[in-house]
Amino acid sequence: MYIISSAVLLIACESRTYEEISDKTPVAEQVTFNKDVKPIIDANCISCHSPGSQALTDYGQVKNNIDNIINRISRPTGDPLKMPQGGSLSPTQINIITKWKADGLLEN
Ligand code: HEC
Repeated sequence: MYIISSAVLLIACESRTYEEISDKTPVAEQVTFNKDVKPIIDANCISCHSPGSQALTDYGQVKNNIDNIINRISRPTGDPLKMPQGGSLSPTQINIITKWKADGLLEN
């Protein structure tokens, strides 16, 4: 009995946490780079990350840096390492990029 109820609790906690971070905005069934991720990077990152300086201008560069990128965009406001510098992505945009990795970093 104890095991069953703690399993239920665990599931309840997990789904609540997901709702909290998911911002209730639906994210595409399957996230791809060209459809979902590139527009976010183009609008928020390449002003600084253009060719030459830690570029994030194409699929390969973003894919190869994905763990670093998720680390930087998920940092709390005020953290000097948070990206984009001086701002923040919305929770929905962060979800899209995180889900892109979970979906297998597809290009199209
Ligand atoms: C206003 C300019 C600016 C914007 C906009 C910006 N960055 Fe940065 N970014 C920097 C600078 C400067 C550094 C180097 C200093 C540092 O590591 O914090 C950096 C470093 C990084 C690094 C670490 C690179 C490495 O080699 O370790 C990542 C990853 C990163 N940015 C991702 C992003 C992403 C993703 C976005 C958009 C959501 C973004 N940045 C938007 C200026 C910017």
